[in-house]
Amino acid sequence: MPRFSDRVEQVSISGIREVFEAAGADAINLGLGQPDFPTPDNARRAAIEAIESGATDAYTSNKGTLELREAIAAKHARDNDLDVDPENVIATAGGSEALHIALEAHVSQGEEVVYPDPGFVSYEALTHLAGGTPKPVALRDDLTMDPADVEAAITDDTAAFVVNSPANPTGAVQSPDDMREFARIADEHDVLCISDEVYGQIVFDGEHRSPAEFGENVVVVDACSKTYSMTGWRLGWVTGSHERIERMLRVHQYVQACASAPAQFAAEAALSGPQDVVDEMVQAFSERRDVLLDGLNDMGLETPTPKGAFYAMPRVPDGWVDEVIDRGVVVVPGDAFGEHGAGHARISYAVNVETLKEALDIMDEATAAVR
Ligand SMILES: Cc1ncc(COP(=O)(O)O)c(C=O)c1O
Repeated sequence: MPRFSDRVEQVSISGIREVFEAAGADAINLGLGQPDFPTPDNARRAAIEAIESGATDAYTSNKGTLELREAIAAKHARDNDLDVDPENVIATAGGSEALHIALEAHVSQGEEVVYPDPGFVSYEALTHLAGGTPKPVALRDDLTMDPADVEAAITDDTAAFVVNSPANPTGAVQSPDDMREFARIADEHDVLCISDEVYGQIVFDGEHRSPAEFGENVVVVDACSKTYSMTGWRLGWVTGSHERIERMLRVHQYVQACASAPAQFAAEAALSGPQDVVDEMVQAFSERRDVLLDGLNDMGLETPTPKGAFYAMPRVPDGWVDEVIDRGVVVVPGDAFGEHGAGHARISYAVNVETLKEALDIMDEATAAVR
């Protein structure tokens, strides 16, 4: 009998994959967590040129090329009003590796990690892999996370809490006041706030602010994946204090060495080139969100208005998700994102309006069938 580590035995393959596998080949897929836009041309070209020149044949510095880290620092100055030293940036294999090294570097055996429930599936899994203990907290009715609930969940054993805004799977955006509170809680309780901002540029209502604007005890996780439709490129990053970066670099150095060099060149171009592609994508998502919300409303499904990302999370009757999938539309059951996601479904609207309307017709029939 093979023996496996206790840590890995606590983690299973994501429930989202199982849904995809259950769906037919010609199903409409509203389960995907990636934009349906091409990667910007200037990013693709920068990678091709770097490959052809031979610049990508070797390891880069562990943290990533200085030019990329400068582009990341400039992005934070432009979009978040944050003063980031390029020395305090590590380019990673997507936001996923960024979350991984942040938790590995800060969570000791048995320490607790607080995170939103429903929340992005990696928070629980990566907590287990780091030897930590997951502490999910339920959300408010509008699907944002209440700082008071986070503060109440903190104990002497808490190493970190995760804030994700705009959020997957809810599309909820935390208010600037909430972000200020998260920063205060991190400072006052001396626990790390990991702020997952991979959807930070995809906001329709309200504004995205980073807790890093308001306090010191924050590590920001970000990526090109969603902003520039570059999920396949695998390029994200972490920023934080010099001390924290030095510890995360110890992990990154041994698990990754450096982020893929072609992706680094592509990311540098995406971050420092024209940003109108991002505005156009956000505009398209905003229009689709309205179409989806209208449709769900017409069916009588109560849906907190998502203010960012490209997901909506309606409350759905029993049997709704299975009925919708059986009729050929893939959506993800809310409990794939935590216990408190039960009774909800996550709908991704990273598809064109015509496809979305077709899916809404099918959802309408499914709703009538289960009522
Ligand atoms: C909230 C959140 N954080 C991080 C990630 C990881 O993104 P990446 O593809 O850059 O690894 C995702 C991907 O879906 C996500 O939804």
